Amino acid sequence: MGKHRALGYLADYRPGPAASSVAENQGKFTATQVFLLTNLGPVYALPIIPIRIGGCISAMVNRLSSSPLLKRISSTISRGFSSASKESGSEVSRNTRAAIVATVATGGLAAWYAHLYGNPIKAVTIAEHGLHPASYPWPHNGWLDTFDHASLRRGFTVYKEVCAACHSLNLVAWRTLVGVTHTADEVRALAEEYEYDSEPNDEGEIEKRPGKLSDYIPAPYPNEQAARAANQGALPPDLSLIIKARHGGCDYVFSLLTGYPDDPPAGATVATGLNYNPYFPGGGIAMARVLFDGLVEYDDGTPATTSQMAKDVTSFLNWAAEPEHDERKKTGLKVLIVTGTLWAISLWVKRFKWSPIKTRKILYKPPKV
Ligand code: HEC
Repeated sequence: MGKHRALGYLADYRPGPAASSVAENQGKFTATQVFLLTNLGPVYALPIIPIRIGGCISAMVNRLSSSPLLKRISSTISRGFSSASKESGSEVSRNTRAAIVATVATGGLAAWYAHLYGNPIKAVTIAEHGLHPASYPWPHNGWLDTFDHASLRRGFTVYKEVCAACHSLNLVAWRTLVGVTHTADEVRALAEEYEYDSEPNDEGEIEKRPGKLSDYIPAPYPNEQAARAANQGALPPDLSLIIKARHGGCDYVFSLLTGYPDDPPAGATVATGLNYNPYFPGGGIAMARVLFDGLVEYDDGTPATTSQMAKDVTSFLNWAAEPEHDERKKTGLKVLIVTGTLWAISLWVKRFKWSPIKTRKILYKPPKV
């Protein structure tokens, strides 16, 4: 296991060009001004564009429609189309000519625009997009459903025994597992299995110390170069936010982990060093199949089939990406109950206040004359 790097990354951080230009601008504009300038300007400008184009077209049409050439063209058109006007020999009005020319010009512009931009190059095969994963009934999918914490605990086992050999989980501290997957004592024991750098001693040497609850889960490689070197140039991404970072979330990761066929289908070609997986965009992924029946042993005795492990580790990664999930839904329910009650009370108060007004009767008694 490599040494803990999260703090090292922070210490190495230098503001790049983007950060420094933001800092320069901060003296000149407030954040609100920057937001308005960069976002709202173009939005407000949008309706102006068709208005301006429309103005130009109508000016052009007005000029053109008074030209003798156009008069001849449009009277030819109207003679061809309308027998009534031919018989009566009446001139097509200036407005009709303008309408015809404007319509033709607009159609022409639209066709020209469609010709230029109408056919963007798209990924046209399922292989280029990656096969769309099925939608699975995750236990935590419902509005009021929390994570299945027994599954999260098993999922952590799978991450630790399998995925942690290649993938980091840089944003997860040991302490966050307490009360979610393990007890405090269990997590302390887990953290102590790893060595971390201690503070420099009086001689300036950095000694190793066992992990603590406040440490972050250690990464398998000291840096990106080492990770790529060990994986034929491919970088195993950090899994902390992977569920949020991929279209399809849990469904995608589950399908990816369980979606390796024994052989690629006929006609599918995969570059050397890649493995065929239809769910991965392009179909060739640097990660080989990693889950096989019976690979880990669960302490609750659940049979560790491939799909069971994939489901558990995916749920665990969903928790890593959304640790606030259970609390969020609980709070949402409280908010709904409170606002719902307030709404009902406000309805009652409204009726109470309005009932004398709505039920009154206004009579007119004419004066006796
Ligand atoms: C032997 C090393 C190795 C192991 C073990 C491993 N992976 Fe990977 N994984 C990789 C590599 C390399 C990539 C990058 C693939 C690529 O970019 O082609 C990757 C990519 C991924 C991706 C991202 C796919 C995408 O859409 O970009 C996910 C999700 C993932 N792995 C999940 C897991 C999970 C979950 C486990 C444990 C069950 C696991 N991996 C175990 C090496 C590994």
